[in-house]
Amino acid sequence: MTAPPTTTQGGRDEFALRLLKGSAKKSYEPIVDIDWDAPLAEDRYFLPPQMVSLYGTPMWEQMDDGQRVDLSRQEFANYISMGIWFENMLNQSLLRAMMHSSPTSPGTFYELTELGDEARHMLMFGKAIERVGVEPFWPGKRGARRVNTMAMIFRGPMLWVGALVGEEIFDALQRQILDGGDDLQPLVQRVMRIHVTEEARHIQFARDGIRRDVGELSPQTRWAVANLHGLGASLYFKHFTRSALYDRIGLDGREAQRQARANPQFHASLRAGFAPLAAFLDEVGLMGPIARRMWTKYKFL
Ligand SMILES: [Fe+2]
Ligand SMILES: [Fe+2]
Repeated sequence: MTAPPTTTQGGRDEFALRLLKGSAKKSYEPIVDIDWDAPLAEDRYFLPPQMVSLYGTPMWEQMDDGQRVDLSRQEFANYISMGIWFENMLNQSLLRAMMHSSPTSPGTFYELTELGDEARHMLMFGKAIERVGVEPFWPGKRGARRVNTMAMIFRGPMLWVGALVGEEIFDALQRQILDGGDDLQPLVQRVMRIHVTEEARHIQFARDGIRRDVGELSPQTRWAVANLHGLGASLYFKHFTRSALYDRIGLDGREAQRQARANPQFHASLRAGFAPLAAFLDEVGLMGPIARRMWTKYKFL
């Protein structure tokens, strides 16, 4: 048996140690830190209305308040359902990568901490979906297989870029939700607050990993990494406007989907969600031409 790689990794270790301290100081246990028995607030939105995919469309104008709130409930459940399967994928990838690094390195310690955070987030999201009283949006057999396959593809630098595509876009959307203020369901605000706090450290860790590794990539790997993340654009765009969202509240799903996908207000929310990540990818030289075209085609740029 060969010995695992030694622990010295200079600044990466120090960075991991700093994040570990932050985790020790401020982490949550959603199962006890959220009052799951508190009643939902009547008539309050689950997402700020301007973030709902149909906001401002002709169809929106025809919907009554109850239907609008219901659509925000479904879209909230959709976001956090996607959050669960993304975090599942990330955790699988992290565990696999760990077999190739030292179990005594601060980087591994931090990755294990992140893994634990994500496990609690998946539980929190699952409980939140249950609490708001809708079915999760869950992949079928083929979709589930695809998620598990992606978990195997995310390795090395692609793991960190994949992590950012999953985390940063949701993070920016969640900050928009929090900015939505006091008119939102208190449960939604609580869940988002906890998630944003813990994800901030994950994002820093992924960004730091990319900054350190990007200079050492071969031109081919660099090209692949810089373009593959563009696949995220179509995945998000299609899932954020899946017809089941609208079918479930009694709208014509196809027509609603068509209006949402053409909705400039919805596009503005996507652009705001992608802006921080786009700036970072540009900064580190990982926004390839194909990826840029994909993000533009699907209204994130
Ligand atoms: Fe998370
Ligand atoms: Fe995360």
